[in-house]
Amino acid sequence: VLDIRKLYGQSDMFTFDPGFMSTAACESAITYIDGDKGELLYRGYPIEQLAVNCDYLEVCYLLLNGELPNAQQKAEFEYSINHHNLVHEQMHFFLRGFRRDAHPMAILTGLVGAMSAFYHDSTDISNPHHREISAIRLIAKMPTLVAMAYKYSCGEPYVYPRNGLSYSGNFLRQMFATPCEDYQVNEVVERAFDRILTLHADHEQNASTSTVRLCGSSGTNPFAAIAAGVACLWGPAHGGANEACLNMLENIQANGGIAKVGEFMEKVKDKNSGVRLMGFGHRVYKNYDPRAKLMQETCKEVLTALGLENDPLFKLAMELERIALEDQYFVDRKLYPNVDFYSGIVQRAIGIPTQLFTAIFALARTVGWIAQWNEMLSDANYKIGRPRQLYVGSARRDVPSLDKR
Ligand code: ACO
Repeated sequence: VLDIRKLYGQSDMFTFDPGFMSTAACESAITYIDGDKGELLYRGYPIEQLAVNCDYLEVCYLLLNGELPNAQQKAEFEYSINHHNLVHEQMHFFLRGFRRDAHPMAILTGLVGAMSAFYHDSTDISNPHHREISAIRLIAKMPTLVAMAYKYSCGEPYVYPRNGLSYSGNFLRQMFATPCEDYQVNEVVERAFDRILTLHADHEQNASTSTVRLCGSSGTNPFAAIAAGVACLWGPAHGGANEACLNMLENIQANGGIAKVGEFMEKVKDKNSGVRLMGFGHRVYKNYDPRAKLMQETCKEVLTALGLENDPLFKLAMELERIALEDQYFVDRKLYPNVDFYSGIVQRAIGIPTQLFTAIFALARTVGWIAQWNEMLSDANYKIGRPRQLYVGSARRDVPSLDKR
């Protein structure tokens, strides 16, 4: 705590904490992380149990409502989601305004922001029914928007959602069915994709969630707040890491593969190289990210089910991990694989293009953003977020006339 009155003659005391290394911005009852133990709980339930025993929509219900649904609540929730998974036809025209080669995250930021124009009948945040319906709309429509962005980039017609399939099965069909051939969902792939969604569903006050809270604290509508979260997630230090990680693995593979891993690691340890081992390290986890363990298992299951056991990128990733876990550089800094280290390999095996990885992360995280946004608004004492600063610019001075500058 700095005494700003002494330093700058201002009237307040406040903490100076760049990067929020040790500042809690809110109270929350949604997600708990013990970074030293490598533990992650959603509403008290360990992620390992949720990933195995629940599907993604049950996890969504849990994050939003605080408890797991019983059979009737589950059926009603699924019905609501299915009831809202179509998007307004005008949104197709809106999508057509984008370049076909635009990054899917650029398109998604625009589409989600535009939802406040298409669904302005649920933007009154003081109305609990509006908040609830916006939450359902966002969770239901996000897969449709992501799949639309993908089909648009390939020049293929959109595939409309088909109720009767699971949330994940429906998304995979919207991605991969064509007018000539329907898509038969492989059960192992469907379960793996559902698990990817569960593992990414919430992660307390990360950069994009804090962005949603800060943006939402001004009283803006939920679609605008979630669009801000999508934009923040895009960066390579956050959600963009899965794409960056797969690009890194492909690069190493193209330049000598496993034989060149040692050379690559030397570059990573050289601070002047600017190279990081993507998918490694985390602000909170100073131990193995529990999601990375689950993702590694999922990776093995999917590769086996698809006959890709010898996938060279998986072997490369395992070798990088093996070397890193024994290397003093990584040990000293407590750098372990995070969720993104293996998720790209699974998605690639499923057939999802690398450029879409972060959009899928956004799809999965939407529920976490909404749950956190709703929790903030439900707190009667919430205030607009307004960080302070340490001013380090010029002291007061007078504007010189143009001929004296
Ligand atoms: N490769 C090499 N060195 C690393 C890595 C890495 N992936 N991550 C951290 N370090 C080093 C830093 O150079 C620094 O070393 P120093 O103390 O000698 O200067 C030290 O470890 C601490 O790193 P910071 O960047 O200060 O840690 P911070 O908590 O700010 O960053 C982050 C965390 C952004 C995740 C970082 O580890 C990183 O860039 N990782 C790669 C990108 C990535 O995988 N991001 C996904 C995060 S998880 C998610 O969003 C889903």
